[in-house]
Amino acid sequence: MTDDTDDAANAVNQETLSNLLKENRRFPPPQDVADHANVTAEAYAEADADREAFWAAQAERLHWEQPWTQVLDWSEPPVAKWFVGGKLNAAYNCVDRHVEAGNGDRVAIHFEGEPGDSRSLTYAELKDEVCKAANALVELGVGAGDRVAVYLPMIPEAAVAMLACARIGAVHSVCFAAFSPEALRGRIEDAGAKLLITADGYHRRGSVVNLKANADEAAAASPTIEKVLVVRRTGHDVQWEQDRDVWWHESVDRQSTDHTAEGFDSEHPLYILYTSGTTGKPKGILHTTGGYLTQASYTHHAVFDLKPETDVYWCTADVGWVTGHSYIVYGPLANGATEVMYEGTPDTPHQGRFWEIVQKYKVTLLYTAPTAIRTFMKWGSAIPAKFDLSSLRLLGSVGEPINPEAWIWYRESIGGGRTPVVDTWWQTETGAIMISPLPGVTEAKPGSAMRPLPGISANVVDKDGNIVGNGHGGLLVLDKPWPSMARGIWGDQQRFIDTYWARFADQGYYFAGDGAKKDEDGDLWLLGRVDDIMLVSGHNISTTEVESALVSYPAVAEAAVVGAKDETTGQRIVAFVILRGGNEEHEELAETLRDHVSKAIGPIAKPRQIIVVPELPKTRSGKIMRRLLRDVAEDRAIGDTTTLADSTVMDLISAKLPHAD
Ligand code: WT7
Repeated sequence: MTDDTDDAANAVNQETLSNLLKENRRFPPPQDVADHANVTAEAYAEADADREAFWAAQAERLHWEQPWTQVLDWSEPPVAKWFVGGKLNAAYNCVDRHVEAGNGDRVAIHFEGEPGDSRSLTYAELKDEVCKAANALVELGVGAGDRVAVYLPMIPEAAVAMLACARIGAVHSVCFAAFSPEALRGRIEDAGAKLLITADGYHRRGSVVNLKANADEAAAASPTIEKVLVVRRTGHDVQWEQDRDVWWHESVDRQSTDHTAEGFDSEHPLYILYTSGTTGKPKGILHTTGGYLTQASYTHHAVFDLKPETDVYWCTADVGWVTGHSYIVYGPLANGATEVMYEGTPDTPHQGRFWEIVQKYKVTLLYTAPTAIRTFMKWGSAIPAKFDLSSLRLLGSVGEPINPEAWIWYRESIGGGRTPVVDTWWQTETGAIMISPLPGVTEAKPGSAMRPLPGISANVVDKDGNIVGNGHGGLLVLDKPWPSMARGIWGDQQRFIDTYWARFADQGYYFAGDGAKKDEDGDLWLLGRVDDIMLVSGHNISTTEVESALVSYPAVAEAAVVGAKDETTGQRIVAFVILRGGNEEHEELAETLRDHVSKAIGPIAKPRQIIVVPELPKTRSGKIMRRLLRDVAEDRAIGDTTTLADSTVMDLISAKLPHAD
């Protein structure tokens, strides 16, 4: 880690190349959004005046069984305690209180299956399901503090299972349905889970995935697992372990819909979520209850400007990653939102599937990832143009830096040129959104996440932890505790300290691992992970910047750039590009693109090699696995591909290379 971060820190000391900062398009909030915004500019001043009072006011969004006596206890950093002494139940806050407030008939979840089946659950129905599932968990021997592994596809039962755990104080550990049996086994072992909740299967790209077979393999190798609770989704035949396996419809459906939600301590563990660390064992990030739910709820209200009576919100993430936890389950449900949940992929059965769903449910708020946006760009604007997207009033982006051209395309081709776009920076470890425009306040710049939300503090520092001035770059740090911050790494607190807090221990900063720049106005531009910064002939160049330059060329839909070892220049830039629909690879293309990058950034940033590929290797959360592309560029055996969303991609890419046979 030190090597990478030192390299990145070098970026600070030199005149950084910057095509991003030449971006001068500006998008003020539309008047109607500004006029009715949930959060106005005053929130920044209020929070600056008294950060703790500000968060205490936001915590009042929730129902507390017992009030807290202290807002923040930061006496033992880096482990914060928020709303000390308070007690609450996360599931009660996400479900029951909306029913009690007379909103039981409001739809909580519109579920859309990949084959086109659909069902809607009202808040009253969701409450019944969560209570029944909570009773079933108790019957299966699960109690407060026990860990439950959740290995479910995108079906309502995923939210029900998570909320049922929260309701009884059990700690859920959700594992992506696309992860391998070995990945699941490792996570079960690390957390010491006693129950595994899974499904027979799910629909993906038109076929049935036999999830139960994976779950069986993992469970067989997991001595801590006592029972496996199985949702029937696809109905195909599955192996059955008589003493261990329990059908959800047999165990949950017969339970009482009465279950009294007990208040748990504000710092009671809510969940563990493993982050796919690039090396080593995955880290089980631990989140607790009161602070987490406060920030998930507040940020969802502030950033998406949710009006629960009229909005239809859709976050296209998977519940298997933190975006699904905070912005499919806890944030929107705590806020009483009506939301869409979709099981499948954007191109099944056709490339307009997302837009068909937006049209069908009249989605108003859409939250997706740059990788998806660039894929839609590649497929072309003609596809969304066939659907009525006029219901949309706000678009969000998360997961990686969004290239300015993708931002503009999103706003124009999906948002009809009307909608604010909010680029939201955060991490599994931060639990909730940290840096983002406010849709009714911020004059947005395409490609910038702009500034920390009210009550949040972030900065950019050089390698010694000195704050850099406007117009300079460095490392992103979070310099004040925030309510939804991780409380640790499950079972390895030293690693928590070493990974995030040791680097700037003197200053007490949280080191995010991202490079960032402050522009002349002090607005923040995220540059990707520090290990994605290349060193070419002594110049630091961020992969994000070169990728954005490539994507700004009309024929290019998506680009991934890596630095490959080079004897003369240290590293040379290798670019993998996907062309937009209708564009063909031709002889002069590589030269044209090299010139284009040279003009946009400077000759030093010119990719040495440009390789046109049909797909890029991505994790299921949409992150490009540059490590694998570096393997290709440096012509060595390709490393571990088990976390790829589609494992065949690397074969397609290798086939495009001159040296591949
Ligand atoms: C990393 C965290 C945030 C939930 C999903 C990912 C990158 C995330 C942005 C953004 C630039 C972003 C960062 C961060 N990232 N959002 N808006 N602009 N970069 O959670 O898997 O924990 O990844 O994703 O590099 O450190 P995660």
